[in-house]
This record gives sequence, C-alpha cells and structure tokens, in this order.
Amino acid sequence: MKLPSRVLITEVGPRDGLQNEKQPVSTDAKVELCTRLLQAGVRQLEATSFVSPKWVPQMADAAEVMARLPRPDGVAVSVLTPNMKGFEAALAAGADEVVIFAAASEAFSMRNINCSIAESIERFRPVAQAAIQHRLRLRAALSVAFGCPYEGEVPVAAVVDVASRLRDLGCDEIGIADTIGVGTAAQVERVFDAVAREVPLDRLSGHFHDTYGQAIANVVASLQAGVFRFDSSIAGLGGCPYAKGATGNVATEDVVYLMHGLGIETGLDLDALVDTGQWISRELGRASASRAGNAIAARRRAQAGAAA
Ligand code: HMG
Ligand code: MG
Repeated sequence: MKLPSRVLITEVGPRDGLQNEKQPVSTDAKVELCTRLLQAGVRQLEATSFVSPKWVPQMADAAEVMARLPRPDGVAVSVLTPNMKGFEAALAAGADEVVIFAAASEAFSMRNINCSIAESIERFRPVAQAAIQHRLRLRAALSVAFGCPYEGEVPVAAVVDVASRLRDLGCDEIGIADTIGVGTAAQVERVFDAVAREVPLDRLSGHFHDTYGQAIANVVASLQAGVFRFDSSIAGLGGCPYAKGATGNVATEDVVYLMHGLGIETGLDLDALVDTGQWISRELGRASASRAGNAIAARRRAQAGAAA
C-alpha cells in the first residue's frame, strides 16, 4: 500500500462541532477556539455557517465570528453556504472558500435543507457560478453517503450520481460524508472506488462521524483508497441537528496521532491540539471525545504528579 507523504486536514470543529450544541456558545469562545486552532497550525479552517438562524440558531453569529477571526497568511477560511443569501454574506465576510452541502438521499436533503436533491443542485448553481467568478474555492459536502437516518441504506450509485452533479457545478473538492457514522472500512473502499471513476481522487475528501466507533478505521480505509484530504473536529465535537443521535466527527487529535504514527505529515502541532481540545471540552462542560487527546492529557498529568 502506498501512503501519501502528507495529508490535508480541514478543521471543522468551530462549524460542525458547535452547530449542534444545545447550550449557547458565546462568540468569544468561538473566536478563541478558532484562534487556538490556528496557533496549532490549522491552515484550512471551517469557521461557521451562513445558514438560516431559524434552522441552526447556534450559527447565528457567523458574521461576527468572521469579523473577529485572526486571518494569518496561508490560512483558508471556509463557511457553509446553502444558497445565494449565504453566499453573499460569506463574500462580505471575506471567506476564502464556500461549502455547498447536498445529500445522497432525498429524505435527508429535505430535512436538512428543505428541498429535493434536484432542487438543491439548482439552488447551488448560482452559488457555484458566483464562487468561480469571485475566485473563491468551492467545496461540496455530500451527506449520508454511507447510510441515512431516514432511509437506511444508501445505494453507492446514488452517491456517485450526486457527486457527479456536484463535479459538474465546478467543485474543487467534494467531501464524502458519513453523517451518522455507520460506514465500515470495506464500504469506504467501495464508495471511494466508485466515486473516483467520476471525480478524480485528488478532489475527494473524507468526512467521518464516529457514532459507531469506525471513524479512524474509515480514515485508514480512505488513505488506502488514495484519499489524502480529511475533515476532522477538535475533541471529536460535532453532529448535525438534522441527524439525531449522530455523534461527533473523528477527532483531529486522533487523526493527527494516526498520521504522525504512519510517518505522514499534517503540519499540525499535536500538543497544541491536545491543549485546545481539552480547553474547549472544559468550556462546554464535558469530557473530550478524543481518545488520543485524553490519553496525552492523562500522561501529562501523571508526569506532572510524578515530578511534584
Ligand atoms: P427554507 O426555510 O426553505 O428557506 O430553508 P427560505 O428561503 O424560505 O428562508 C427561510 C428564512 O431563513 C427566511 O427568513 C430567510 O431569509 C432565511 P424570514 O424571511 O423567515 O425571516 N434564510 C437565511 N438566513 C441567513 N442565511 C441564509 C439564509 N437562507 C434563508 N443563508 C435553508 C432553507 C437552506 C435556508 C435552511 O434549510 C437551512 O438554513 N438549512 C441549514 C441546515 C444546516 O445548516 N445543517 C447543518 C449543516 S450540514 C451538516 O452538518 C453535514 C456536514 O457536516 C456533512 C455531514 O456530516 O454529512 C456538512
Ligand atoms: Mg458533519
């Protein structure tokens, strides 16, 4: 198996991680989370969503988060934009990349963005054209590619079909997403092999939620399939308000621990990520879902105790 020498990780914690929080998260905490992530070496940051605040109240402060973010050179900040209203707000906020988000099942499309798959593609068309015109990177997320909370099994052909339509809109990258974390390694290989016949592998990425504990295995299966772009979320935060019961994304700390163990560069500082993951978990009043993050934090405490 030939592994890549480097992977590209998009940190989605501030968006996917926080969108699902029931308790209000202050804009200050969101900005601090982004700042800490950038200090840990994050270069692709999915910061927030320009979506309807009636649908996702937690992202209602998107413009303020964007206005207050540090923007060091070389960092690409992305935001979710389901329609032109979202795109215009993203453009005004100075986003580098916009993310359109479609689904591989009709039921999830309807629940998440209130339209059919075909309608969503038509709604994304002007967003894609405007992104290309304004030279913003255009990414797509393709939800429920490994299973749907409403329809169950999702045919691989449906994933390939929607991925092809997103490619035709001119997407620079299409994230194949396991929204409810049900996929397993062999399925990941099958899905990526099939999609890669229509969309070049270097334009695909993996977005794995960890509901069934398969996310790290699925990252490895994706690497084996030739994928080198991944989304991950600090402390394993995350979930979709329209996919009840789904837990967070694969934790950034766990992905970085894996990659460094495989000798694959990430450009990220694991120790700083662990600090950030522990910090945001304290802020949210719960334990981090990152196994590596918790293990490293426990080892540090033990070492500090032994030294005292
Ligand atoms: P709708 O109700 O059909 O839209 O929602 P509408 O055009 O009728 O608008 C309704 C109201 O929202 C109007 O306000 C609009 O102005 C406003 P009112 O006139 O009633 O006061 N509105 C907006 N406000 C701000 N920004 C906007 C915007 N658009 C409309 N962009 C809509 C359709 C798509 C807007 C809605 O369904 C929506 O916002 N959905 C977003 C759902 C969402 O964010 N889900 C989570 C992200 S996806 C995800 O997590 C999956 C992912 O991680 C991958 C994976 O794991 O699968 C990416
Ligand atoms: Mg997600």
